[in-house]
Amino acid sequence: MEQFIIEGNRNLSGTIPVSGAKNAILPAMAACLLAPGTSTLHNVPHLIDLKTMSLLLRVLGAKVEMENDVLSIDASHIDSYEAPYELVNKMRASIYVLGPLLARLGIAKVSFPGGCAIGTRPVDLHLMAMEALGAHITVEHGYINAKADKLVGADIYFPKSSVGATINALMAAVLAKGVTSLFNAAMEPEIDATIDFLNLMGAQISGKGTTTLVIEGVEKLHPTEMEMIPDRIEAGTFLIAGALSTNPVTVTNCNPNHLTLPMEKLRASGCELEVENCSITVYPPEIIQPVDIITLPYPGFPTDLQAQFTVLMCLADGISFIEDTIFPDRFAHVAELNRLQADIRVEQNIARVKGVKKLSGAEVMATDLRASAALVLAGIAAEGKTVISRIYHIDRGYDHIEKKLNAIGAKITRS
Ligand code: UD1
Repeated sequence: MEQFIIEGNRNLSGTIPVSGAKNAILPAMAACLLAPGTSTLHNVPHLIDLKTMSLLLRVLGAKVEMENDVLSIDASHIDSYEAPYELVNKMRASIYVLGPLLARLGIAKVSFPGGCAIGTRPVDLHLMAMEALGAHITVEHGYINAKADKLVGADIYFPKSSVGATINALMAAVLAKGVTSLFNAAMEPEIDATIDFLNLMGAQISGKGTTTLVIEGVEKLHPTEMEMIPDRIEAGTFLIAGALSTNPVTVTNCNPNHLTLPMEKLRASGCELEVENCSITVYPPEIIQPVDIITLPYPGFPTDLQAQFTVLMCLADGISFIEDTIFPDRFAHVAELNRLQADIRVEQNIARVKGVKKLSGAEVMATDLRASAALVLAGIAAEGKTVISRIYHIDRGYDHIEKKLNAIGAKITRS
């Protein structure tokens, strides 16, 4: 199993580019199932999660090809409707095929996603939305079986903001008969990107950027082509790397409009930021100030940056409180950071981080995608050598993170 060996070094400086957003590409890939023919996605990074989704689409009958950063998906023939356990188990976002399969074939069988390292993650809201659109759902032998002669538009109110359930509902409703309204829909930038992609396919969705989305069902959709949006979580991770450095770091190919709150929190920690159209330069502070954060649905602070921001707070001059309201159990990184001599205590869904003068390299284990990114940042900031095992988690969502960070001065070896 591969590991990262990191020689601590806070002298990062230079320019680091951001790749396309995994969490926007996954739904776009699933949406390709809605229209026979070949759709093309540009700005697609090499990530394990995208390979897993490619594999799943192939199992369903699609042809998927990747050349450089261009992904082509030919969904002319979809001859299976089953998303098997082996794939859903690897990646929860496999549930994204549920809506498109129901809309196109009227039937879907998708393995029930289990728990994961960041806690229990139910899919009840996905199923509620499919049922509201007229699907008959049963759960048997670990599989969700969904059937519908024809999906019919409905009013759907989400009791909780859910990115995944909003996306699945959109992808099912675009081909439903009549009008569907989604209330309390999630409004992450990845939802906007999915709406853009579906509308380019011929869907009629309005309300983008708000919590009420209205979908007028259409008879059929056609294949399309789109440039994928930049990954705001990768951008945020690199900004925090810059904040931990002793020199300025410029994060390029990003969309600063998607990073308003993380930038506000970085400024509160003492960073100066220079914001251009597609890039942000972070000038690190001499003394990092403690800042409290609470993760919330967009435009709130993203839970996917919680672990990385915690690393910054580990070296702050004082105490900060980090609360995760989205995934209350998402604190697996804390025990590992404490091995690097951070001083963090967790009570329920709040971490109390007491800043220390320095972190000290040690052997640690990556537990999930964003926790791994946090450990890489901590390893760079720590004195001495840090060895991170189980780094396959990081390859799920970051395209060669070590190469990108080494290009601005980090010393990370994969072995
Ligand atoms: C997506 C992102 C993930 C991010 C999360 C929150 C993808 C592939 N993943 O995950 O990186 O951390 O948004 O921004 O885009 N919930 C239910 N029932 C459901 C669905 C969700 O109770 O049926 C709960 C979850 O447990 C969680 C909250 O709703 O507490 C939000 O989850 P959700 O937005 O659905 O996250 P994902 O779409 O799984």
